[in-house]
Amino acid sequence: MSIVVTGATGHLGRLVVRQLLEKVPADQVTAVVRDRDRAADLAALGARLAVADYNAPETFDGLFAAGDRVLLISGNEFDKGRVQQHTVVIEAAGKAGVALLAYTSAPESLKAALADDHRATEEVLVGSGVPYALLRNGWYHENYTEQLAPVLEHGAVVQAAGEGRVSSASRADYAAAAVAVLTGEGHENKAYELGGDEAWSFAEYAAELSRQTGKEIVYKPVSTEAYTGILAGAGLPAPLAEILAGVDASIAKGELVVSTGDLSRLAGRPTTPLAEAVAAALKG
Ligand SMILES: NC(=O)c1ccc[n+]([C@@H]2O[C@H](COP(=O)([O-])OP(=O)(O)OC[C@H]3O[C@@H](n4cnc5c(N)ncnc54)[C@H](OP(=O)(O)O)[C@@H]3O)[C@@H](O)[C@H]2O)c1
Repeated sequence: MSIVVTGATGHLGRLVVRQLLEKVPADQVTAVVRDRDRAADLAALGARLAVADYNAPETFDGLFAAGDRVLLISGNEFDKGRVQQHTVVIEAAGKAGVALLAYTSAPESLKAALADDHRATEEVLVGSGVPYALLRNGWYHENYTEQLAPVLEHGAVVQAAGEGRVSSASRADYAAAAVAVLTGEGHENKAYELGGDEAWSFAEYAAELSRQTGKEIVYKPVSTEAYTGILAGAGLPAPLAEILAGVDASIAKGELVVSTGDLSRLAGRPTTPLAEAVAAALKG
């Protein structure tokens, strides 16, 4: 019996595996990766490695065992049919008789097109009969703090989110919630709406950047169409630019404010303040 984490060489997956290794014996942790070499650090910490690809169902044959607790981290290949990819993992987990399959989803309040794959995956999972936990992750601080170069260059945070607020949290916070569910009891067939303790606006984010850099940084709200053009101009494929601009339109409507407190409750501590993530990013 093992705790199995897919997407383990991704940003969130790495954090989950490392936090798991602090809580349970290393031989009970399996990291599912596409490239063994990129997981050498996790193997060095004692995690077992399994190689599999959501696009190749046969790679999941025999990967799970009865009683395993699994974290399915949603994929990032928007052009390859993520629902089908996730279904491959759900079906393999069902065949094996896993004890729990937790899935990194999106908040129920988020109606943007980005959430479509998550809603469809949830439907497959809930209908599969596999004991599930829906980790409806809100937005990451890092979506913004890892994109600071153009903001600092132009002295402007450009978004199409109007006055909307976001209750983001750090990836490490969402990882802590996942670890709590994977190692705790009583999470079967539950849905968690996860977000940071404090919601902020982009004007407040710009003010925090100004405070920490000593430079004037302003928020420049633009239309959804203009923002789509800016993202495409920066090299994003047009469909992805539209999806991301759609998230901003959702933020403007308040769809990424999550005020359940589920995240800090599961993590057992307050969530990381945005200012802390900004400070960490500025330090490099
Ligand atoms: N809540 C948010 O703000 C937010 C923001 C961005 C994304 N997300 C979602 O949350 C997920 C985790 O976030 P993250 O920051 O860890 O993203 P990430 O660093 O892009 O990690 C995505 C992971 O999915 C794995 N993956 C993708 N396609 C796969 C396939 N065909 N077979 C097996 N594994 C596959 C990747 O494997 P490799 O390591 O081999 O590439 C990677 O480990 C993302 O994939 C996305 O669905 C959420």
